[in-house]
Amino acid sequence: MASCLCRYRRRILLCLCTPCILLACLFIYVALAVCLSMTPSNTPVGAPPLPPYFIASGATNSGLLAPYPINSFWKYELSNEAHWNMIQHVIDRQHNPILRPRNGILGNYSRVDNSSADLTQQKPGCFPNYDVIWSLSDYFSLPSQIQRFVISMHCRDYPVIIDQPRVCGNASQQHQAEGLMLLLAIKSQAPNFENRQAIRKTWGRSGLVKGQVGKGGQVRRVFLLAKNQSGHDLDTVKKLKEESKKFGDIIMWDFLDAFFNLTLKDILFWDWFSKNCHNTRFVFKGDDDVFLRTPVLLDYLQKVEAEARLNGSRRGKPLEEFYVGEVITSAAPLRSKTTKYYIPDSFYKGMYPSYAGGGGVVYSGALVLRLLEVSKRVHLFPIDDVYLGMCLQRLGVIPTHHPAFLTFDFPNDEGKKPCAHHTIVLVHKRSPKEMRKLWVKTQNPSYKCRKVTLRKDPEKEIEKKET
Ligand SMILES: *[C@@H]1O[C@H](CO)[C@@H](O)[C@H](O)[C@H]1NC(C)=O
Ligand SMILES: *[C@@H]1O[C@H](CO)[C@@H](O)[C@H](O)[C@H]1NC(C)=O
Ligand SMILES: *[C@@H]1O[C@H](CO)[C@@H](O)[C@H](O)[C@H]1NC(C)=O
Ligand SMILES: *[C@@H]1O[C@H](CO)[C@@H](O)[C@H](O)[C@H]1NC(C)=O
Ligand SMILES: *[C@@H]1O[C@H](CO)[C@@H](O)[C@H](O)[C@H]1NC(C)=O
Ligand SMILES: *[C@@H]1O[C@H](CO)[C@@H](O)[C@H](O)[C@H]1NC(C)=O
Repeated sequence: MASCLCRYRRRILLCLCTPCILLACLFIYVALAVCLSMTPSNTPVGAPPLPPYFIASGATNSGLLAPYPINSFWKYELSNEAHWNMIQHVIDRQHNPILRPRNGILGNYSRVDNSSADLTQQKPGCFPNYDVIWSLSDYFSLPSQIQRFVISMHCRDYPVIIDQPRVCGNASQQHQAEGLMLLLAIKSQAPNFENRQAIRKTWGRSGLVKGQVGKGGQVRRVFLLAKNQSGHDLDTVKKLKEESKKFGDIIMWDFLDAFFNLTLKDILFWDWFSKNCHNTRFVFKGDDDVFLRTPVLLDYLQKVEAEARLNGSRRGKPLEEFYVGEVITSAAPLRSKTTKYYIPDSFYKGMYPSYAGGGGVVYSGALVLRLLEVSKRVHLFPIDDVYLGMCLQRLGVIPTHHPAFLTFDFPNDEGKKPCAHHTIVLVHKRSPKEMRKLWVKTQNPSYKCRKVTLRKDPEKEIEKKET
C-alpha cells in the first residue's frame, strides 16, 4: 500500500515538474536573447557625449539617478544628409526636458555636463563660416542666396544703425501697469518709401485709435529695415535718417536686407521689443504691402483680452500663448530651384511645423519675451514665418487660425464683391494706392456694407498650402 502511494506521488510530481522546467528553460533562453540583442550603440555623430545618467524629472526626490537606458528611445545616429536638422538635433537634445531637467531635483547642470550653453553664447564672430560648405553635399550647385545664408547663419549680432527707443514711451511710462495696446511692426525695405507713407496715413496711424465699435486703444508703429546692397548705402542711410527724424518710426539694422535674412528682423525685433516695449500688450507683425483694418483688429483684441481675463482666474498666465493669423499646416519645403522659397534637401528635411503666413500675424507681448528666449536655441532658418513656427513648436504653442486674415488674398474672385473688404482683418497684397482707397472705403462703409460680419471658415479643413 505504502509503495503504491509513493509511486503514484512520484508520477504526479513528474507530470507537474516537466512543464515547469521547460518553461524555466524557455524563459532563460528568451532573457538571454533579449540581453544579447541590446548591445549599447556608439556615441552619435556630431553630438556631444551624453552623460552616463539621465534624470527623469520629478520622479523622486531622493537624489538618486535613474540608470542610463540601454537602448535610446530617440533616434541615435544622426543622418548628416540635412544640415539644419543635424545641428538643431544636437541643440534640441541639450535642452530636452527629460535629459536635462532645468528645474529638476538636482537643478545642477555642471553635475551632468556643461554643454547647455545657448546659441547666443557661442560667438565665433560674424565672419563667414566656410567650414559649413563641406556639410552640404551639393553646396556648390545651390542658388547663391542659400549659399550666403548657410555661411552666415551662425551670426545674429547685428548692431542697430537707426533706433527708436522711445516709441513705446520713456522708461517711466514703460513701467506703468497698463502699457500700449498695440505695436505695429512692419517689415519694409529702404526703397519702399511710398508704402510707408501710405501706411502712415491709413492703417498705421499712431496714437489713440478708435475701434470700429469698441473704444480702441493706444497704437504705435515701427518699420523694420536693414541695409541695402547697392553702392548707394551711405546715401540710403542718410535719407532714412532724415525720414526717421521726421516720422520717428524707422528701425534699421546693419545687415543685408535680403529675403533669406528676414528671420534676423524677427529675432532682432524681439530683442529690441524686450528692451523698449516690453509692456505693450499686442504686436502686429507684417509686410508693408498688406492692408490691415486696425480698428477691427483692436475690437478683436479687446474681446480676446476680456476673455483672457475671465480665463485667467482658472488657468495660469493668460495670453502667453496668443498667436493668431492665417495658419498653414502640413506645408513642406519647396524643392524647385526656381522659387524664392527653395530649400534644398541637403539643408532641411521633413515637413514644416504649423505656422501663420508671414504677411501679417498678431501675437501678445508676453509671447514675444518667450519667443526671444526660445529663439536662442533654434538655429536660424531662411524663411521667417517657418522659423517662427519652429520656435512656437518648441514652446508648445499652437497658432490660432483666423479666417479673416488673408495672407494669400481672397480665394477666386471674392475680392471683387462690393463689401468683400469689410469682411476681413487683413489682406495681402495691396499697393499704396489701393491701401488709401480701401481705407477710406472701410472707414466710411456704405449702408449695405455696414452690417456685414467678418469672414468665417466653413467647417472645412484648412487647405494644405505650401509656402
Ligand atoms: C553643482 O555641482 C557642482 C559640482 O558638483 C558644485 O560645486 C556646486 O556647488 C553645485 N551647485 C548647486 C547649486 O548645487
Ligand atoms: C566645459 O567643457 C569644456 C570642454 O567641452 C571644458 O574645457 C571646460 O573646462 C568645462 N567647464 C567646466 C566648468 O567644467
Ligand atoms: C516720461 O514722459 C512723461 C510724459 O511725457 C513725463 O512726464 C516724464 O517726466 C518722462 N520721464 C522721464 C524719465 O523722462
Ligand atoms: C537698393 O536701393 C536702390 C535705390 O534706392 C534700389 O533701386 C534697389 O532695389 C535696392 N535694393 C534692394 C535689395 O533693396
Ligand atoms: C545677411 O546679412 C549678412 C550681413 O550683412 C550677410 O553677410 C549675408 O550674406 C546675408 N544673407 C543673405 C542670405 O543674403
Ligand atoms: C478661454 O477659454 C475658452 C474655453 O476654455 C477657450 O475656448 C478660449 O480660447 C480661451 N481664451 C483665451 C484668450 O485664452
